[in-house]
Amino acid sequence: MRPAEPARLLDTLLCCALIEARSCERMKLLSEQLPDAELAAFYKGLLACEARHHRVYVELAVELFGDRDAVLGRLEELAEHEAQVLAEPSPLARLHA
Ligand SMILES: [Fe+2]
Repeated sequence: MRPAEPARLLDTLLCCALIEARSCERMKLLSEQLPDAELAAFYKGLLACEARHHRVYVELAVELFGDRDAVLGRLEELAEHEAQVLAEPSPLARLHA
């Protein structure tokens, strides 16, 4: 994340959006793999919630910063950085990896 405002705020919002997107992916996997239909439906509902949370952070960033293309471009940059970090081996346990 960039250290100086207002870029720091934009990066914070977009990192939050990425966290929500990853939660969404986990809920999708659970909802598709669980043999218990009731539990699968529960996680499918959470999937929808996480997707909304992702959109809220992105839309808030667009509302505050005004330039949708620039916001989405920065989101892509942060997602690429995230992918690079996760591709590197780590000796530490990762809760959100
Ligand atoms: Fe969430």
